[in-house]
Amino acid sequence: MNRQSRLWIVARLTVSIMLTVLLARCSAPSGAPVVINGTAVPPVPTLDPGRVARGAALYAQHCAACHGANLEGASDWKKRLPDGSLPPPPHGSSGHTWHHPDALLLNIMTQGGDPTSNSKMPPFRDKLTQEEMAAILDFFKSRWGKQEREFQWWITMTAIPTPDPVALGREVFASHCARCHGAQAEGHAVEPAPALDASEHAWHHPDWQLHQFIRDGKYSLSPVQMPAFAGKLSDEQVGLVIAYIKSLWTDEQRLSQEDMNQRSVLPTP
Ligand code: HEC
Ligand code: HEC
Repeated sequence: MNRQSRLWIVARLTVSIMLTVLLARCSAPSGAPVVINGTAVPPVPTLDPGRVARGAALYAQHCAACHGANLEGASDWKKRLPDGSLPPPPHGSSGHTWHHPDALLLNIMTQGGDPTSNSKMPPFRDKLTQEEMAAILDFFKSRWGKQEREFQWWITMTAIPTPDPVALGREVFASHCARCHGAQAEGHAVEPAPALDASEHAWHHPDWQLHQFIRDGKYSLSPVQMPAFAGKLSDEQVGLVIAYIKSLWTDEQRLSQEDMNQRSVLPTP
């Protein structure tokens, strides 16, 4: 056997080994760990049919008008519209929903799309519970092919969790503010500490002023004062507690306060 035919046999052997490995990977029985880029994650969990059906019904009611009755999305969904926004994408295998981990998808459903790109994806935080959004996500998952489903499961399991500023801010609030402003910021646990939620005027203050009140305190004629937290809370913690307070406001209040931030002036009474 000459050198060339030996090389040929080695090359064919290599190809057939590669094919065997690939086929073994594709036909891996469900219930096997998912391995991508050398990182193994547990097997893809089985979806609960009842939950998928509930997700399908919620989807038809809340999402189908934009994303299509059959998850097909807008026809030209990758092309930006004249206002800079993107049309609704498909949520099946042909879209890119499956490129994202669960946490990000649930976050988009909760908060809506990115307002800085003029997104038309509405927030559902006041219309659907987290459980209902997760059911809709399970409905999407039931429509993905095996590879899309495995990839999305893998990226969900390996995604670095991004800490939720609102949840962190809620903790700061519970330990430093709730005793005067109330457990849910409803106010008046101690007079005259006002409500910081949607019911009073906290949203009349731009960010710089909220930071200032919390850092330096706020003078009151009453015996109970708003204490200064400079030295007790880091600037980051003050930012987090403000993120929590803002999450309690209505959309209109948040928008109005954001507008105030841009102009950095107090609202005209
Ligand atoms: C008023 C139209 C509209 C409705 C109703 C709507 N969406 Fe959207 N959605 C959009 C648009 C437009 C985008 C693209 C936004 C962008 O990227 O700026 C989008 C994007 C998304 C994305 C991000 C996909 C990705 O890959 O980045 C998810 C997830 C999503 N929508 C889920 C839902 C769900 C679930 C519902 C129903 C509960 C819903 N949408 C209802 C218009 C809508
Ligand atoms: C000892 C009780 C007390 C604690 C603790 C406290 N506050 Fe206050 N806070 C007050 C009082 C009293 C006022 C009203 C001051 C005044 O008369 O304007 C106030 C006012 C405020 C205001 C201004 C609201 C407005 O609409 O004018 C903000 C914002 C605020 N507090 C945030 C916080 C945050 C955030 C914390 C925790 C980091 C906190 N407070 C902890 C007593 C407290």
